[in-house]
Amino acid sequence: MKRIAILISGGGSNMLRLVEDMQTLGYAAPVLVASNDPSAAGIAHAGRLGVPTAVIDHRLFGKDRAAFEAELLKPLLAAAPDVVCLAGFMRVLTPDFVRRFEGRMLNIHPSLLPKYPGLHTHQRALEAGDPEAGCTVHEVTPVLDDGPILGQARVPVAPDDSAESLAARVLVQEHRLYPAVLRRFVAGTRTRLDL
Ligand code: GAR
Repeated sequence: MKRIAILISGGGSNMLRLVEDMQTLGYAAPVLVASNDPSAAGIAHAGRLGVPTAVIDHRLFGKDRAAFEAELLKPLLAAAPDVVCLAGFMRVLTPDFVRRFEGRMLNIHPSLLPKYPGLHTHQRALEAGDPEAGCTVHEVTPVLDDGPILGQARVPVAPDDSAESLAARVLVQEHRLYPAVLRRFVAGTRTRLDL
């Protein structure tokens, strides 16, 4: 059984979908949910689902990313994951950290990459007048929001969309896409999924 660790920073709705999917279908085991933010609501939710949790507050390390990542690595290595899923994890990881998990670390990003890496993706899609938006699951490489694309899901942009309404519709698709990609990834499939 493949072991899956999930890194979050906030509400953790994508993390919850991944955990539910694994627990329902039994194709992998969620072995750790870790957050860089002690106030992340997802930590309590994960605990209620019986998943071990860890919190490493990045603010305790100031600008020292390497020191933060050294602490994050402790529970992560102890959990011995086969795959690490970033699910709303909002810290940029150093190349050293990424290389430890290269080829087995996934991320979900709320845009149709390569469009709009980084932040404010929905606002940028609206300002560009894009007819559609969506989300991407990709392998993590040392370049931010880069790496081989494993799946995308699309939504039409409505004329009266705000960044918030668009984000909410994209999030529904994120919840479909990420578990579907993880199931395939665990089974060894690297071809791209389009929903
Ligand atoms: C999701 O929309 C995810 O795609 C985005 O943060 C949200 C987290 O929601 N991730 C990024 O922007 C990463 N750069 P969640 O905590 O409810 O899953």
